[in-house]
Amino acid sequence: VRAAAFASGTGSNFQAIMEAEGLPIEVVLLVCDKPGAGVLEKAERFGVNASVFEPKSYESKSAYEQELIAELNGAGVEWIFLAGYMRIVGPDLLGAFEGRIINIHPSLLPAFPGKDAIGQAYQAGVDTTGVTVHFIDEGIDTGPIIAQEPVAVFPGDTEQQVKERIQQVEHRLYPQVIRQLLKETTYEDKTK
Ligand code: GRF
Repeated sequence: VRAAAFASGTGSNFQAIMEAEGLPIEVVLLVCDKPGAGVLEKAERFGVNASVFEPKSYESKSAYEQELIAELNGAGVEWIFLAGYMRIVGPDLLGAFEGRIINIHPSLLPAFPGKDAIGQAYQAGVDTTGVTVHFIDEGIDTGPIIAQEPVAVFPGDTEQQVKERIQQVEHRLYPQVIRQLLKETTYEDKTK
């Protein structure tokens, strides 16, 4: 399955997907909307073509997404994995890849959607937060949940410690979910 990763941060989840063994995907494109993001170096290291978009230079979100769709179609992309892509996916992109865009979010959704979910949970003083992998819909972190895993917050933890604990779970859970999801999809296709 040809896939694209969308990431604009350090790319530790991108790296975890690239290093996971036996995933039924070939990541053929990295889409990044932050020139200079750490994930770009990682893409180069793994030999993945990177497309750096600056959404601000387009007249509308739709124009930006139409260009993205053309590029994704040109590369034969069937699935999209978001991993730290800080932009809301609009109706154009959603429509073109309906049911085939998933995201990882560092909280137990529906708790703490949006930006800085780890900081939000830490400030709220919860004793359990976690990681969610979900399908993308038109909302912010509201799409159907595929998998969740809780992560404990211990008394005296720093926010950094919580973040590291969450990242460890992310790097294991995301490849695991992708493997399972695409196995099921391939199976469905074979029965057609
Ligand atoms: C992850 O925490 C992910 O859950 C969130 O953005 C972060 C990306 O981190 N959506 P990285 O760039 O993969 O290290």
